[in-house]
Amino acid sequence: MTDSINKFKPPANCLDEKKVLITGATGGLGSALAKRAAQLRATVILAGRNLPVLEALYDEIELIHGIQPALFPVSQETATQQDYAELATTLKNEFGELHALVHCAAQLGMPTPIEHYPEKMWNDVMQVNVNSAFLVTRALLPLMQSTGNASIVLTTDHRQTAFWGAYGASKAALDAFTLILADEISGKVGPSGHPSVSVNAVNPGAMRTRLRAKSFAGELPKESPLPETKVDALIHLISRQDPSLHGEILSL
Ligand SMILES: NC(=O)c1ccc[n+]([C@@H]2O[C@H](COP(=O)([O-])OP(=O)(O)OC[C@H]3O[C@@H](n4cnc5c(N)ncnc54)[C@H](OP(=O)(O)O)[C@@H]3O)[C@@H](O)[C@H]2O)c1
Repeated sequence: MTDSINKFKPPANCLDEKKVLITGATGGLGSALAKRAAQLRATVILAGRNLPVLEALYDEIELIHGIQPALFPVSQETATQQDYAELATTLKNEFGELHALVHCAAQLGMPTPIEHYPEKMWNDVMQVNVNSAFLVTRALLPLMQSTGNASIVLTTDHRQTAFWGAYGASKAALDAFTLILADEISGKVGPSGHPSVSVNAVNPGAMRTRLRAKSFAGELPKESPLPETKVDALIHLISRQDPSLHGEILSL
């Protein structure tokens, strides 16, 4: 299964008219995905906490691909369910539909033994990596269900060894969240007979991003592939090439 996803070459325009929200859109994977989705004709909604970087990405996408993105400036450390409810209302009013939600926002925290792990850092990592993923998903699920044939993708990692601390624990929680949500909505089928919203988690593997540089400080950048090499696999899920793909935790 992963093999066909890894080898997927998206047809041109395969996201035509699709609305795709990406959290962590200014990050390595998030920005590569946003640009690729726009190239395939999606309207991308860029969520991120750094407004100047978000605006530069907005300009680049609009200039190169000629499709106007939307911006959702947000700090996922502090945003509340009210902020996400307002986002859902805005998306409903502006677009009337949402085809994909891809969670790329993540914090690494710091490699530290649990014994010495700072409480604030633990809470911040959990807030961004797990709690806000829950809040965004819960707020946008009704719009995605009414859109039908939609897709939620969570980005995970498998780090359950010493010193991965809150990051490792948060990703294990995200895997569980994926499976629980997928199970809950698997009976809500669309016209195709498949779930109206698919829910899957993807471990993209090593990528040359800030998160990787922080976690493997001694590694040369060229030792990890660029995030651009991973995004077509995410496009496979977003565009629901295999509509039966649901409740999976995939490793690229
Ligand atoms: N890179 C790898 O080797 C690797 C391996 C396995 C899994 N993954 C997963 O892949 C996903 C993408 O990671 P990446 O490598 O692209 O990392 P990245 O370049 O560090 O991007 C992470 C993104 O999360 C955003 N973010 C962090 N805290 C936030 C907050 N409080 N509010 C809003 N946004 C916040 C960052 O915003 P700023 O741009 O403002 O900092 C950035 O856009 C993550 O889920 C990660 O766990 C990565």
